[in-house]
Amino acid sequence: MKIAIGNDHTALEMKNEMKKFLEEKGYEVIDYGTNSTESCDYPVYGEKVGNAVANGEADLGLAICGTVGISLACNKVKGIRCCVCSEPYTAKLSRMHNDSNVLAFGARVIGVEMAKMITEEWLNAEYEGGRHQRRVDQVMDIERRNQNAL
Ligand code: RB5
Repeated sequence: MKIAIGNDHTALEMKNEMKKFLEEKGYEVIDYGTNSTESCDYPVYGEKVGNAVANGEADLGLAICGTVGISLACNKVKGIRCCVCSEPYTAKLSRMHNDSNVLAFGARVIGVEMAKMITEEWLNAEYEGGRHQRRVDQVMDIERRNQNAL
Protein backbone atom coordinates (compact mmCIF):
# COMPACT_ATOMS: atom_id res chain seq x y z
CA MET A 1 0.00 0.00 0.00
CA LYS A 2 1.26 3.46 -0.94
CA ILE A 3 0.92 6.36 1.48
CA ALA A 4 1.38 9.97 0.42
CA ILE A 5 2.87 12.10 3.16
CA GLY A 6 3.15 15.89 3.32
CA ASN A 7 3.85 18.51 5.94
CA ASP A 8 4.85 22.09 6.59
CA HIS A 9 7.97 23.29 8.42
CA THR A 10 6.43 22.79 11.89
CA ALA A 11 6.06 19.05 11.28
CA LEU A 12 9.30 18.02 9.59
CA GLU A 13 10.59 16.07 12.56
CA MET A 14 7.27 14.32 13.06
CA LYS A 15 6.98 13.55 9.33
CA ASN A 16 10.39 11.89 9.38
CA GLU A 17 9.41 9.78 12.39
CA MET A 18 6.15 8.78 10.74
CA LYS A 19 7.90 7.91 7.50
CA LYS A 20 10.26 5.59 9.35
CA PHE A 21 7.38 4.07 11.30
CA LEU A 22 5.35 3.39 8.15
CA GLU A 23 8.28 2.02 6.16
CA GLU A 24 9.16 -0.35 9.00
CA LYS A 25 5.59 -1.65 8.79
CA GLY A 26 6.02 -2.33 5.08
CA TYR A 27 4.15 0.63 3.61
CA GLU A 28 5.56 2.46 0.61
CA VAL A 29 5.76 6.13 1.52
CA ILE A 30 5.75 8.88 -1.11
CA ASP A 31 7.10 12.07 0.42
CA TYR A 32 5.70 15.32 -1.00
CA GLY A 33 7.73 17.56 1.32
CA THR A 34 8.53 19.96 2.73
CA ASN A 35 11.92 18.65 3.74
CA SER A 36 13.12 21.93 5.16
CA THR A 37 12.54 23.74 8.45
CA GLU A 38 12.27 27.06 6.57
CA SER A 39 8.88 28.62 7.05
CA CYS A 40 6.53 27.55 4.24
CA ASP A 41 2.81 27.47 3.47
CA TYR A 42 0.81 24.40 4.49
CA PRO A 43 -1.74 24.70 1.60
CA VAL A 44 1.00 23.79 -0.90
CA TYR A 45 1.62 20.45 0.80
CA GLY A 46 -2.01 19.74 1.64
CA GLU A 47 -2.86 20.06 -2.04
CA LYS A 48 0.02 17.76 -3.04
CA VAL A 49 -1.13 15.01 -0.67
CA GLY A 50 -4.75 15.48 -1.75
CA ASN A 51 -3.85 15.27 -5.43
CA ALA A 52 -1.74 12.16 -4.92
CA VAL A 53 -4.65 10.34 -3.29
CA ALA A 54 -7.30 11.72 -5.66
CA ASN A 55 -5.39 10.71 -8.79
CA GLY A 56 -4.40 7.29 -7.46
CA GLU A 57 -0.65 7.85 -7.08
CA ALA A 58 -1.19 6.86 -3.46
CA ASP A 59 -3.87 4.79 -1.73
CA LEU A 60 -4.10 6.96 1.38
CA GLY A 61 -2.51 10.15 2.68
CA LEU A 62 -1.04 11.60 5.82
CA ALA A 63 -0.92 15.39 6.19
CA ILE A 64 0.80 17.10 9.11
CA CYS A 65 1.13 20.76 10.02
CA GLY A 66 1.17 22.59 13.36
CA THR A 67 -2.54 22.24 14.08
CA VAL A 68 -5.24 21.86 11.39
CA GLY A 69 -4.57 24.10 8.36
CA ILE A 70 -3.19 21.40 6.08
CA SER A 71 -6.45 19.45 6.42
CA LEU A 72 -8.42 22.42 5.09
CA ALA A 73 -6.24 22.53 1.99
CA CYS A 74 -6.43 18.78 1.50
CA ASN A 75 -10.22 18.79 1.72
CA LYS A 76 -10.42 21.29 -1.13
CA VAL A 77 -9.15 18.62 -3.53
CA LYS A 78 -12.06 16.82 -5.18
CA GLY A 79 -12.56 13.35 -3.75
CA ILE A 80 -10.69 13.94 -0.51
CA ARG A 81 -12.10 13.21 2.91
CA CYS A 82 -9.41 14.40 5.28
CA CYS A 83 -9.98 14.15 9.05
CA VAL A 84 -7.93 15.80 11.78
CA CYS A 85 -7.52 13.30 14.61
CA SER A 86 -5.83 13.85 17.94
CA GLU A 87 -6.64 10.42 19.35
CA PRO A 88 -7.02 6.89 17.92
CA TYR A 89 -10.78 6.39 18.43
CA THR A 90 -11.75 9.22 16.09
CA ALA A 91 -9.15 8.08 13.58
CA LYS A 92 -10.51 4.52 13.55
CA LEU A 93 -14.13 5.66 13.19
CA SER A 94 -13.19 8.15 10.48
CA ARG A 95 -12.13 5.15 8.36
CA MET A 96 -14.96 2.82 9.38
CA HIS A 97 -17.83 5.29 9.03
CA ASN A 98 -16.60 8.23 6.97
CA ASP A 99 -14.22 6.46 4.58
CA SER A 100 -11.55 9.06 5.30
CA ASN A 101 -8.75 8.85 2.77
CA VAL A 102 -6.35 11.33 4.35
CA LEU A 103 -5.43 11.47 8.03
CA ALA A 104 -4.21 14.77 9.46
CA PHE A 105 -2.84 15.80 12.82
CA GLY A 106 -0.98 18.67 14.41
CA ALA A 107 2.67 18.37 15.38
CA ARG A 108 2.08 21.15 17.92
CA VAL A 109 -0.89 19.28 19.38
CA ILE A 110 0.20 15.67 19.83
CA GLY A 111 3.48 13.84 20.38
CA VAL A 112 5.10 11.30 18.08
CA GLU A 113 3.98 8.24 20.08
CA MET A 114 0.35 9.39 19.96
CA ALA A 115 0.74 10.10 16.24
CA LYS A 116 1.92 6.52 15.72
CA MET A 117 -1.01 5.06 17.67
CA ILE A 118 -3.49 7.20 15.74
CA THR A 119 -1.98 6.24 12.40
CA GLU A 120 -1.88 2.55 13.24
CA GLU A 121 -5.55 2.48 14.29
CA TRP A 122 -6.49 4.40 11.15
CA LEU A 123 -4.58 2.09 8.82
CA ASN A 124 -5.87 -1.07 10.48
CA ALA A 125 -9.49 0.01 10.26
CA GLU A 126 -11.66 -0.73 7.23
CA TYR A 127 -14.52 1.21 5.77
CA GLU A 128 -17.78 -0.56 6.68
CA GLY A 129 -19.94 0.72 3.81
CA GLY A 130 -23.59 -0.25 4.35
CA ARG A 131 -25.60 2.48 6.04
CA HIS A 132 -22.56 4.76 5.97
CA GLN A 133 -22.37 4.79 2.17
CA ARG A 134 -25.52 6.90 1.83
CA ARG A 135 -24.02 9.54 4.10
CA VAL A 136 -20.61 9.51 2.46
CA ASP A 137 -22.42 9.87 -0.90
CA GLN A 138 -24.33 12.86 0.50
CA VAL A 139 -21.06 14.48 1.57
CA MET A 140 -19.57 13.96 -1.89
CA ASP A 141 -22.77 15.33 -3.48
CA ILE A 142 -22.18 18.59 -1.64
CA GLU A 143 -18.81 18.77 -3.36
CA ARG A 144 -20.35 18.09 -6.79
CA ARG A 145 -23.18 20.61 -6.33
CA ASN A 146 -20.81 23.34 -5.20
CA GLN A 147 -17.90 22.89 -7.57
CA ASN A 148 -18.56 26.23 -9.29
CA ALA A 149 -19.49 28.13 -6.15
CA LEU A 150 -17.34 31.02 -5.05
C1 RB5 B 1 2.48 27.53 10.84
O1 RB5 B 1 2.99 28.51 11.70
C2 RB5 B 1 1.12 27.08 11.35
O2 RB5 B 1 0.20 28.10 11.19
C3 RB5 B 1 0.66 25.83 10.62
O3 RB5 B 1 1.56 24.80 10.82
C4 RB5 B 1 -0.67 25.27 11.07
O4 RB5 B 1 -0.70 25.16 12.45
C5 RB5 B 1 -1.84 25.94 10.54
O5 RB5 B 1 -2.98 25.57 10.77
